[in-house]
Amino acid sequence: MARYRGRSLISSFALLVNALTISPSHGFLGTEKKIKSAVFLSPKLVMNPGSVANAFFSDMDFPRGHIGIKSFDAELVDEAGNSVPLHETYLHHFAVAPVYARKGFKLSQRDMLRNLVLGSKQDPDRNLVAGWSSDIVFVNNAGLCNNPFRPLFGVGGETRKTSTYVPDPYAIEIGNPEETPAGFELKWLMNIHAIDTRGTVDKLGCAECRCDLYNVTIGQEIKPDYKGGYHCCSDKTQCLVRNGFDNGNKTRSIYLKYTVRWVDWDSSVMPAKVYLLDVTDSWERKEGSTGDIQEHDCAVEYDVKPCKTNGDGCVDVKKKSLMMPFNGYIVHVGAHLHSGGLGASLSREGGEGICTSMPKYGNGVEPGNEAGYVVGMTTCYPQEPVKVSYGETLTMEFNYSSAIGHTGVMGIFYIIVAQQLPEPEISLPALFQAQTKSESLLAFLAVTMVVAVVVLTAAVVYRRQNREDGYHYQSLSI
Ligand SMILES: *[C@@H]1O[C@H](CO)[C@@H](O)[C@H](O)[C@H]1NC(C)=O
Ligand SMILES: *[C@@H]1O[C@H](CO)[C@@H](O)[C@H](O)[C@H]1NC(C)=O
Ligand SMILES: *[C@@H]1O[C@H](CO)[C@@H](O)[C@H](O)[C@H]1NC(C)=O
Repeated sequence: MARYRGRSLISSFALLVNALTISPSHGFLGTEKKIKSAVFLSPKLVMNPGSVANAFFSDMDFPRGHIGIKSFDAELVDEAGNSVPLHETYLHHFAVAPVYARKGFKLSQRDMLRNLVLGSKQDPDRNLVAGWSSDIVFVNNAGLCNNPFRPLFGVGGETRKTSTYVPDPYAIEIGNPEETPAGFELKWLMNIHAIDTRGTVDKLGCAECRCDLYNVTIGQEIKPDYKGGYHCCSDKTQCLVRNGFDNGNKTRSIYLKYTVRWVDWDSSVMPAKVYLLDVTDSWERKEGSTGDIQEHDCAVEYDVKPCKTNGDGCVDVKKKSLMMPFNGYIVHVGAHLHSGGLGASLSREGGEGICTSMPKYGNGVEPGNEAGYVVGMTTCYPQEPVKVSYGETLTMEFNYSSAIGHTGVMGIFYIIVAQQLPEPEISLPALFQAQTKSESLLAFLAVTMVVAVVVLTAAVVYRRQNREDGYHYQSLSI
């Protein structure tokens, strides 16, 4: 009797110690301290009241080597390094994408745009897309939209108060030497679209790229019924400035200041991919749908018509259901929407919610709190990664106020998806799971010590029992 009890005690403690030693949380606790961070500045954008810059840069500063990116945060700053408020220069968006370029090949802006339009078929496992020339291989996000430019990171005006942190132990893997085509090196492309609204007649109208405020000509790209959107605020267009606005020399240079956090890659880091789910995606389930990228045409922007009757009911609800063409685990979710946005939700078929992402509006003038602008989005870090199976349908819903009309709004969910959970998947008793999940090293050490004491006590009890009943059991290895 005593013999049996001793044995089962030892076995379960041995298993527990084992689980803690190799548990994912423990594995990553070691690397947590190794998160590095660096701040960079883009090349300058020269702005004047009402001016628009939609610039592409082909070789941005970025941490090099085989790394796991944990976050990418950015904001516009002026020459002196001060934050520029959205009501002076609206950050329409920035987008960042890695590309493999043949060593010595110099990518011009023209080449980039050409490549962006002519990108070809995707390697589904690695998100690599051959460029128009054999000198370039794009590293895209994992889907779903079949857009020519498919960035890994990028948002807009809400950047200052939106978390992009990829939770531990996950990170976005970049620069794996085994993936790098021979003779190529990794470069970073960046697109920055900024609108200077100082002195303009309608700041939010300029930010929404309303065509009637811009000096654009109706023609090929801009059809008469196109009311607003990025075609009307392309590079070097001009938004209407107030009559009598003091036009002294207001030229100024601004920069995108971006902060990258990363870890050096090692086996304790779990790779995660970036997917963008777009509410304007044209995808519909048809017989034989695979969900592949070729099936996803995305308009990216859409308009919100003003409601007929004033009042509380003026909400524009746009929904889209998409089949997920992957197996994985969602570890972080956030939405991107524009001013006028009321909220967004992502849910499973049948209604189970995955994430509700809500806009934060500013109520002042200082950067990060600009009244009338979306200055941040809430994001979700599911307690347990949300398992998604190939073929499953997720539904997104984007709400905008239609009290007034809006042009060129967006509805995008970005989801960070781990292909695997940390191995091995030994489930710990709830108590220990809660403890190891806490980010406190102290809590972990405390748990370890308690377990060590319990195990040692058990070992002593076990040895005593052994001596008492003479049963010889294999030695306990800790
Ligand atoms: C719009 O204005 C800008 C700045 O004055 C000018 O450079 C550009 O050529 C104008 N575009 C059109 C289509 O008139
Ligand atoms: C306006 O100011 C900028 C920066 O302060 C300067 O580079 C530029 O030469 C000035 N332009 C004129 C016309 O004075
Ligand atoms: C969107 O609006 C609908 C209708 O008013 C409402 O039922 C839903 O909860 C809203 N969703 C979000 C995420 O705000």
